[in-house]
Amino acid sequence: MKGIILAGGSATRLYPVTLAVSKQMLPVYDKPMIYYPLSTLMMAGIREVLIISTPIHLPAFQSLLGTGEDLGMKFEYKVQDKPVGLADAFRLGADFIGEDNVALILGDNMIYGSRIERVLRAASKLKEGGIIFGYKVADPTSYGVVEIDKDGTAISIEEKPENPKSNLAVPGIYFYDNNVIKIANEIKPSDRGELEITDVNKAYMEKGNLKVIPLGNGYAWFDTGSPDRLSDAADFVKAIELRQGVQIACLEEYAYRNKWISKEKILEHAEKYRKTEYGKYLKRIAEEEENLYDNIFESKLFQ
Ligand code: TTP
Repeated sequence: MKGIILAGGSATRLYPVTLAVSKQMLPVYDKPMIYYPLSTLMMAGIREVLIISTPIHLPAFQSLLGTGEDLGMKFEYKVQDKPVGLADAFRLGADFIGEDNVALILGDNMIYGSRIERVLRAASKLKEGGIIFGYKVADPTSYGVVEIDKDGTAISIEEKPENPKSNLAVPGIYFYDNNVIKIANEIKPSDRGELEITDVNKAYMEKGNLKVIPLGNGYAWFDTGSPDRLSDAADFVKAIELRQGVQIACLEEYAYRNKWISKEKILEHAEKYRKTEYGKYLKRIAEEEENLYDNIFESKLFQ
């Protein structure tokens, strides 16, 4: 499976902060925002990633993330000239996706939870159809809302409904089979002029082919697109990291856990960041007992 991060858009809710800087480059506590969705794809075991952004901001992402080689990964980049909608990712990414299945994650979405890695790995094994998530929220009226049957198959999806049929909001991470390219090419812009991801999901749903994984207690989901949400996400990351002495969205950690980079390589990274907690954390990881490490790495369960 391949991965796409949509890191363009206009970010008008964060003006004036984002007048000259990409939203996905802003810090969420101690890391650039794009680290969080990128680490989510890595947790799913996805090694080839396409990063899509605006003509102005794309070069900054290239300079931040490079070819991916340092992480044992492969990154490609693509310009989106105008923010014409989330489903445009599959049109722009068609060549990159090729014959594979694909996961799309929005560059301002952050998911955290002790079992999330397991859930993402399972989703990445998708054979056909689509898989999305349903995150329980108190007030679903400002989200895409999905209703499911007892097997977890989607039976309705509505954008910002006045009378929601469920309390499951749809986070910005989606797994699809290769048909998504064809579906994205067939959909028409909505009344607000965008190629809607909801229309892609509806196409799968109408064939009974859209599964929903509910994320209940024990998961945190943030869309960091407004000042309050951005600040909430930063507070959350800070609280967990300081309290537990861990790092959230540590790219090198996932690369190492996935066995995409060696111990020597992680120590090299640790040296580069030696003045930071991030660097100290990397060093600690490299020095941990390898057996102990293997035992706690959940993806072992899926090998
Ligand atoms: P949104 O938050 O819906 O839009 P935005 O980022 O432009 O923000 P605002 O509402 O404040 O103007 O976008 C969700 C994510 O998807 C975000 O990371 C930007 C990205 N995106 C694109 O890359 N291309 C697009 O065409 C759209 C609509 C969004």
